[in-house]
Amino acid sequence: MDGVIVIAVDGPVAAGKGTLARHMATRTGLRHLDSGMIYRAVAALVLEAGDDAGNAQACRQRAERLVAADLERPGLRDQEIGSVSSRIAAHREVRAALVEFQRRFGATPPGAVIDGRDIGTVVFPDADLKFFVTAHVRARAERRHRELVSRGETIDFHSVLHEISERDRRDSERTWAPLRQADDAVVIDTTALDARAVAEKALDIVRQRLGAASVLS
Ligand code: C5P
Repeated sequence: MDGVIVIAVDGPVAAGKGTLARHMATRTGLRHLDSGMIYRAVAALVLEAGDDAGNAQACRQRAERLVAADLERPGLRDQEIGSVSSRIAAHREVRAALVEFQRRFGATPPGAVIDGRDIGTVVFPDADLKFFVTAHVRARAERRHRELVSRGETIDFHSVLHEISERDRRDSERTWAPLRQADDAVVIDTTALDARAVAEKALDIVRQRLGAASVLS
């Protein structure tokens, strides 16, 4: 892409891709988009309107009316919204309505680090650099459980493990834009790494592939 840099960061739930994407955006001066928040915002609108998450047309209408301010709604990171978002994300009509929003964001100079499930495979197949961030499901459930508890949710570990496994299954098995590693993605397994080590590893690769000048600070 001319004049802009797009870095795609895909991976399953709670693998650490959001933390990594935010960090890389700060260090490179690129903008950051957490594409999961878009799906979460649509899920919140669907729930609020009392629509059926299985009804593709009703969900598409909510997706088409999404505005940037909807991404700031409180409670989007709650477990229930996460679960409904992976149901509405399975509809082709919803994905089609949301892909343009993401492409516009990425194409705006100087470019962006975008994290999600299908950024390197569908939204930006020609991204300058692609990461696939993953970790063992138990490690991911432990992180997500800690995060939910620290935000005041009362929830037991096994229900988090179950919800993450279900979401992994739905995201990987859906027909449209399933979660999958792009052939040219760099894989980072974060099971035994802390956020700092993950960021260092990724920034080394950014420097090698895109040149030192792309890392501004
Ligand atoms: O990343 P996060 O867990 O917040 O995403 C919530 C849900 O949104 C995911 O489980 C997935 O179903 C959907 N999603 C997607 N494609 C993306 C980002 C998120 O289908 N690019």
